[in-house]
Amino acid sequence: MSQPVNRVFSGVQPTGNLHLGNYLGAITRFVEMQRSHDCIYCVVDLHAITQDRAVWGGPERLAHSTYEVTAAFLAAGIDPTKHIVFNQSRVPEHAELAWIFNCIARLGWLNRMTQFKEKAGKDRENASVGLFAYPNLMAADILAYRATHVPVGDDQKQHLELTRDIAQKFNNDFADSIRDAGYEDGFFPLPEPLIVGPATRVMSLRDGAAKMSKSDPSDLSRINLRDDADQIAKKIRKARTDPEPLPSETAGLAERPGAANLVGIFAALAGCSQDKVLSEFGGAQFSVFKPALAELAVEKLSPIGAEMNRLMADKAAIDEVLKDGAERAHAIAEPIYREVRKIVGFLV
Ligand code: AMP
Ligand code: TRP
Repeated sequence: MSQPVNRVFSGVQPTGNLHLGNYLGAITRFVEMQRSHDCIYCVVDLHAITQDRAVWGGPERLAHSTYEVTAAFLAAGIDPTKHIVFNQSRVPEHAELAWIFNCIARLGWLNRMTQFKEKAGKDRENASVGLFAYPNLMAADILAYRATHVPVGDDQKQHLELTRDIAQKFNNDFADSIRDAGYEDGFFPLPEPLIVGPATRVMSLRDGAAKMSKSDPSDLSRINLRDDADQIAKKIRKARTDPEPLPSETAGLAERPGAANLVGIFAALAGCSQDKVLSEFGGAQFSVFKPALAELAVEKLSPIGAEMNRLMADKAAIDEVLKDGAERAHAIAEPIYREVRKIVGFLV
């Protein structure tokens, strides 16, 4: 079995409201990667249950969100026949490999994870063990396919570094049996994070210092992919900014998080640089820029929202896509995991 050179893997949790940050930071990148790579896109339902039930909403809500994330993938332009779209819990190798990685990763490594600290909050004793081990499962998602490239938003950078550490330690710890099994340069590749573009970290519309998130109690903080044109326009109108006109150069955005966020969103939606946006809008007041941004956002997002609504009317069809994807994903992961078992010394 030789190293794959060109395999993309990424995942999105089926928890709550898919928003503009997910779309610009992750899903649009997923769509682009299809041109150059074999891609596997996963609705990571095992990850969704690591937080309190109040966060993911219980069984019915979880199933609904699983359909909804899949609908967003398809509506954005992911082709599930040329690539693979599936839900994580249908392919058992994720959880099995994660167990092995629980025994590779060190407590000290996981203790450094900022996402755990943020999500666990003050009452760390009461966080689930799954939330703590979350990055090990994420490493297993990627490495079960020996994926080489992982498009994600900026907030996942630390988890990708941990994935590389796990791959490296596995390759070292089992170097002998990996060589005996015929692999010259380690068994797992060290996957590359792909964190690119003008919107790798979209901020809350209410607070330019906080990331736009599915779980923010204020719906005004985010643009949801299924918001209608009026909601999108209203949220942009109400976005927190400052009284100054826009600067003509990006340096002028440095101390202005609200303004910087809207300019970044404009650039990402228009497919151009922030400099280009400022060359057009430098000197303009928000009373001019916000309506232009709202118009662009409605133009780009409404067709996706409408297509998601159409797809959500036939959940059985969405489930067919996921089942077919799970079979094809399993066909890749199973022989890889079999090799892992041999390398570790489990009887196969
Ligand atoms: P999650 O909603 O946590 O499952 O995230 C799914 C994908 O969206 C990941 O690649 C995240 O890095 C990305 N993402 C989430 N929130 C944002 C944001 N505010 N800005 C940019 N990317 C984001
Ligand atoms: N942890 C990621 C997030 O919250 C989701 C995720 C799970 C993921 N497994 C993955 C992303 C594997 C990339 C690759 O956004």
